[in-house]
Amino acid sequence: MAEPLRVGLAGLGTVGAGVIRLVEANAALIARRAGRPIVVTTVSARDRRKKRSVDLAPYTWDDDMVILGERPDVDVVVELVGGADGPALACARATIEAGKAFVTANKAMIAHHGLELAGKAEAAKVALKFEAAVAGGIPVIKGLREGAAANAIERVYGILNGTCNYILSTMEDTGRDFADVLREAQAKGYAEADPAFDIEGTDAAHKLSILAAIAFGSRIDFPGVDTTGITRLKAADIAQADALGYVIRLIGMAEAGDGQLFQRVQPHLVPFDHPLAHVDGATNAVVAEGNFSGRLLFQGAGAGEGPTASAVVADLIDIARGEIGAPFSVPVAELEAMEPAATGHRQGRAYLRFMVADRPGVLAEITAAMRDAGVSIESLIQKGRAGDAGAVMVAMVTHEGPESAVAEAVRLLEGSDSLTEPPLVLQILGE
Ligand SMILES: NC(=O)c1ccc[n+]([C@@H]2O[C@H](COP(=O)([O-])OP(=O)(O)OC[C@H]3O[C@@H](n4cnc5c(N)ncnc54)[C@H](OP(=O)(O)O)[C@@H]3O)[C@@H](O)[C@H]2O)c1
Repeated sequence: MAEPLRVGLAGLGTVGAGVIRLVEANAALIARRAGRPIVVTTVSARDRRKKRSVDLAPYTWDDDMVILGERPDVDVVVELVGGADGPALACARATIEAGKAFVTANKAMIAHHGLELAGKAEAAKVALKFEAAVAGGIPVIKGLREGAAANAIERVYGILNGTCNYILSTMEDTGRDFADVLREAQAKGYAEADPAFDIEGTDAAHKLSILAAIAFGSRIDFPGVDTTGITRLKAADIAQADALGYVIRLIGMAEAGDGQLFQRVQPHLVPFDHPLAHVDGATNAVVAEGNFSGRLLFQGAGAGEGPTASAVVADLIDIARGEIGAPFSVPVAELEAMEPAATGHRQGRAYLRFMVADRPGVLAEITAAMRDAGVSIESLIQKGRAGDAGAVMVAMVTHEGPESAVAEAVRLLEGSDSLTEPPLVLQILGE
């Protein structure tokens, strides 16, 4: 059999340990499929003395992850450390400059520096792969780059953050409030001690920006993602959505057309009969609409040791087979620089929720703002006290109309002392 592909592994946490276990457990089948063995030779992490769940005795330890790619016993570096900058980025640059292949699960780094790294990798004619960076174990990058490569893709959207999905589906199942479920998710290890990246939508936005670039052949535009997290959702919103025939999911949505790129991460109301309504717990799902393939649905574990390691090792198998390819399918110089799309003209239905003072005339004030902004109301529900200092909840669903009209209605109500907090506006996912 041919010479092994020798891996330098930076990061021995959840995913790094998973890669070691997978490469060992499936060594024979991986060697058959890749045409040669894949072996980890050298490992690196922050603390050499730390007790690990895997035996590191067979591997050389190198304190400096940045220069793993310069070692003669390493053909490819796998970075499983994280962070958009810092040692991960230094390691990526140094590895590619050393003429070695680089594999990562680091969505933050790819969202911020993916174009630079891809340009360098193309110039050096080495592979740069990041399947595990988007939707963990789901082979969605491969699915779009290879399986759906013949299609023009106009829209790609999905559930890209398992932590948020776990929180939302648990709120749905238990009727508990956001803060309470978040605490439990942290205790169970589904949410980080600092959950901000997840619950504020940033992690989903990183993944969406990468997915959009692959789907549309456009330059990554992470700052162009209009991002709202799940922190403002109340148990009452989930219950109200349920009564109306919806679940609430954090959806990342990207569309391309006329040289414009629309990217948004926002909680959406998802109709019960939509495939994404049935994606529960820490699962991820991505829908891509190809002009010949039709709707493609990719679903599976978006995180976790085994699934994420599976995606990382799939990249290593490609590299062992000699597959390089442009990291974003299209060479960086040919990726289209799209303008961020104006959103006001977008049509859709929306859910609006107001927390209002419990006094006469408030409902009339809200409906007047809707009328003046040209928003047509499909249904309106006023609930009793929602527990927030005597505030009452008013929820409504609009008919199909421009998003700009809803934004105008909200603007008209700005500063009103009838509202105890700013209105919450969620889009309703169409067919
Ligand atoms: N966990 C998942 O399910 C998942 C899913 C998809 C993508 N990812 C991505 O995969 C990457 C790794 O995630 P993870 O969950 O495995 O992280 P993790 O469990 O926190 O492990 C991080 C590893 O990086 C090492 N490290 C941290 N700072 C370092 C430094 N300055 N120099 C050298 N090593 C350093 C740590 O060393 P010590 O062990 O010595 O402290 C640890 O081994 C991240 O980019 C993450 O976004 C993770």
